[in-house]
Amino acid sequence: MHYHCISVLFVIVLFLLGSLAKPLSPPWDDMHIKHSWNVVPKNWESLGHPPSGTTIDLHIALRPQRENAMVDALHEVSEPGHPRYRAYLTKGQVADLVAPHPETLELVNSWLEHHSISPSSISMTHGGNTLTLKRVSVTQANTLLGASYQLYRHVERGETIVRTVGYSLPRALHWHVLTVAPTTSFVSPRTQWQTPRNCSDGAVMSTSEEPAMMLSSRAKVNRIMPSFLRWLYETEAYTPNTRGENVLGVLGFLGYYPSQTDLTAFMQKFRSEAGDATYTVVLVNGGEYDPTHPQQEANVDLQYAEVMAYPTPHIFYSIGQGAPGMEDLFSWLEYILDQENIPQTISISYGIEERLMSREYAINVCDQFVMLGVRGVSVLVSSGNDGIGKGTCLRDDGTVRFNPRFPGTCPYVTVVGGTTGHEPEVAVKFSGGGFSDYFKRPSYQEEAVSTYLQDLGNRYQGLYNASGRGFPDIAAQALGLPIFLEGKVYGVGGTSVATPIVAGIISLLNDWLILTGQAPLGFLNPWLYGRGSRGLTDITEGSNSGCNMDGFPAIVGWDPVTGLGTPNFRRMLEQLF
Ligand SMILES: *[C@@H]1O[C@H](CO)[C@@H](O)[C@H](O)[C@H]1NC(C)=O
Ligand SMILES: *[C@@H]1O[C@H](CO)[C@@H](O)[C@H](O)[C@H]1NC(C)=O
Repeated sequence: MHYHCISVLFVIVLFLLGSLAKPLSPPWDDMHIKHSWNVVPKNWESLGHPPSGTTIDLHIALRPQRENAMVDALHEVSEPGHPRYRAYLTKGQVADLVAPHPETLELVNSWLEHHSISPSSISMTHGGNTLTLKRVSVTQANTLLGASYQLYRHVERGETIVRTVGYSLPRALHWHVLTVAPTTSFVSPRTQWQTPRNCSDGAVMSTSEEPAMMLSSRAKVNRIMPSFLRWLYETEAYTPNTRGENVLGVLGFLGYYPSQTDLTAFMQKFRSEAGDATYTVVLVNGGEYDPTHPQQEANVDLQYAEVMAYPTPHIFYSIGQGAPGMEDLFSWLEYILDQENIPQTISISYGIEERLMSREYAINVCDQFVMLGVRGVSVLVSSGNDGIGKGTCLRDDGTVRFNPRFPGTCPYVTVVGGTTGHEPEVAVKFSGGGFSDYFKRPSYQEEAVSTYLQDLGNRYQGLYNASGRGFPDIAAQALGLPIFLEGKVYGVGGTSVATPIVAGIISLLNDWLILTGQAPLGFLNPWLYGRGSRGLTDITEGSNSGCNMDGFPAIVGWDPVTGLGTPNFRRMLEQLF
């Protein structure tokens, strides 16, 4: 009997080994939907097939062999008290962490081979985590992805992109391939800022909309906003010293350029000792630079980063749309993660509604912010200017739901909301804030957010995702700030302005760390929600209206309007000792 049993087992084992050894050739025509919207997303209209000969660069994100290694590494390097706190990884170490299993790579390559895609047109980033197929014809992309790529135009803004409403992959690849882009994300980062108010009388802005500048209750406050900011957030006494080593990067999309002439004029007027402030321009993905045609957004972002962080070197990334169909934020992330050295602080004043991209795509972009954090980069992102949501927030299915904005909903960036006034400094009504529908609440904000939700009770229940990542994390002045544009002064507002202000302050902290032989702050949130919160001024008044509602109230402690509060450089610095 014994003998018999053993032999049966043996046969089974042999059979299993035999089937494993045989190279499986998956049925590549067994296509299943990977993601589909069913209908063309709102505000986009199809212009039909793209002109013949149109090509796109396809990015294929593969599942890493060690799935949670990257997020685990981020927790280690950004959690104060952890033995690996601020022990950042190099580009090569990151590639090792996110590389796919060799079998994943093999499988995907054999699929591409089946479709006659030559290996020479495939490039790999991050150890094979992302494959890029250069200049794939739209016809071939349609075959590869069971897709129907078309040219789409945004009905309000006029820009055109090449996208498909849905796409498929062979069943055998669904687990291995996380996402393919560009496919179903009808994304082009929309700037977050408000129409500038005209201030023809220059620096003195004294309408009731600029209370911050009227309330000069102390002698040191004058009417010139940037010096008020430097006084309010206590950066005045600090002069950056690590020239060259510490760098602040400002992102620019949509063909918006800053002007050196305007920057010089701005500095001469508002911070005269910084009249020689300058910046370098880096062109990414076909981005261009024409300083004779500056645009407000780029001028705002650069002028406020510089006025806070001068004389820290600044890089302006002009990120192009490349061939129609390229994802601009995605291509910047790909570019920057490929660099050996990355600016320690990054300011991004752009974003889009989270729901306009698929969950898998949002997760993939967010994963790249994780990589930036592991490399030691602090990323500041604006929270938006529509409060809890623009307009009525009525969805196609007749329900009302708040509209959180990406990349602010990614738990691995630091999101900046807006305030106004002082004594007290309060939330501005338009400050974007809320909860992600795609990303769950990260552990670092568990306590802060659940305390808030308890206080909120069942108000707005069902209109937002109470288990989602809450944002913003921090806030700064966002109303009635002067900028120079083509030689004239305008007053502007928006979390677009608040973001470079906070980025400038974080950059000063990084400067001090580097100067004293320490590593920079990197991903800020675990520190901010812990000890770092002592360096912030809690904002407890106001709310962020939207969707025809009052919005979330700002209260004591964290709130989805102003986060943990506004920065105070001197007190934040104390929390680094
Ligand atoms: C701002 O005001 C000046 C003078 O009143 C005017 O010439 C200029 O066109 C205005 N600019 C904008 C953008 O409204
Ligand atoms: C709420 O967030 C969680 C965590 O991200 C997610 O799994 C869930 O699908 C979300 N629910 C809705 C209705 O969006």
